[in-house]
Parts: sequence; C-alpha cells; structure tokens
Amino acid sequence: MPITTCIFDAYGTLFDVSAAARQAAAEPEFSRLQDRWAELAQHWRLKQLQYTWLRAITDAHTDFWEVTQDGLDWALEATGLDGDAALRLRLLDLYWQLQAYPEVPAMLRALKDAGLNTAILSNGSPAMLDGAVQSAGLAEVLDDVLSVESVGIFKPDARVYDLVGKRFGCAREEVLFVSSNGWDAAGASGYGFVTAWVNRAGEPVDRMPWKPAHELSDLTTIPDLARG
Ligand code: LAC
Repeated sequence: MPITTCIFDAYGTLFDVSAAARQAAAEPEFSRLQDRWAELAQHWRLKQLQYTWLRAITDAHTDFWEVTQDGLDWALEATGLDGDAALRLRLLDLYWQLQAYPEVPAMLRALKDAGLNTAILSNGSPAMLDGAVQSAGLAEVLDDVLSVESVGIFKPDARVYDLVGKRFGCAREEVLFVSSNGWDAAGASGYGFVTAWVNRAGEPVDRMPWKPAHELSDLTTIPDLARG
C-alpha cells in the first residue's frame, strides 16, 4: 500500500535535544558546562524518557514539561551542577527553542510538494511543541502537531499511535512513522506503521519483538522512502 502520511517524532528526531546544553556551554556565563555539557545532556534525556515510561506504566501521567524538568534536576545533581538556579532556568528556556536538524525544512517541503500528509506525533505538551515548531519555522510544512496530551498517556501506548488514524483517516500501513528513538520505532512497528529509525549515533538496534522497517543515518532520504 502506498504511503500517504508521514509522521515524525519531535524531540531527538526533528529537534536536536542536545542543543540546549551545547548552546548554554558556549555562553560565557555558563562556561563551567564546557567539559560537562554532553554528559549533562545525556543524563537529562535518559531520565526524561525513563520518567515517561514509569509514569505510563504506573498510571501517574503528568505532562512532558514536568518530566523534562524532573529529568533536568536529576541530571544537574548527577553532574554536580545542582543549586545553580540561573543555569537551570537557561537550560529550560533553551528547550523551548531547540534547533531543528539542518535537513528538516527541505525534507518536509519535499513531502508536502509530493502531496503527502505531514505531522508531528510527540510526547511534548502542545505549548512546548508550538514553541519548537515556531522557533524552527516549520508550521507551514506540517499539516498538524499531535500531542499525547489529548489521550493523557505517553508513547509507546497504542492510544497515542491511534491519534494518527483519527486525524488523517488512513490505514496503519499507509503511515511512514519516523523516529530517532529506537523504542518508539519498535513500538510503532508493533502497532503496524511502516517505520524509519533515524540512527544518527550508530547505536545498536533495540532488542524488542519489533524491528524498524528502515534504518537511516539522517532524514534526507525520507521523501524517497515515502514516494517508494
Ligand atoms: C517525543 C519524544 C519521545 O517527541 O522524543 O515524543
């Protein structure tokens, strides 16, 4: 069945989640981050994600902004940077204006020119996603931005992936679902989407019952994949 609809994870896939810590480290005021920003960013991301999974399986949902702050607080303490209110505030502020990866605007434009539906499906809260989409200038090349907040549980719960069919009226096998998160690509494969895992860091594939249909090193070939 041809692909009609291309759906993108947001954080780590379209938007570079390391950019907040990297950018703060380049600011003179936060030069103490210079040798620790990568470790901080890694802890922050991992804890943020772990908290989404824990909250989903314990039925204790809160929004992604809350788990983003909780993950940051853990990461700041783990790297000995806790107690620095100005740094915490700056990192959170930068999270609302993350850079998109350089190939993203042209890739989305090519999908729109080919007549395909395009949307984000993300754990992010609507306000956070709006901030990221606006600051990266992507609103014109996205038909919609779907947030888990409308179902009140995080990925990879099937109710989240259901949002795509409800919005676009398409069958699961017409959807190309693109994520840099191995666990998200696995969950979406199990759900029945055609999946592309964007593996920029060359990580091993997740040991889950479902494997991504495609593995890519960046997003440039998505239009070719989608057009078959
Ligand atoms: C998202 C997280 C998982 O955007 O990156 O949904």
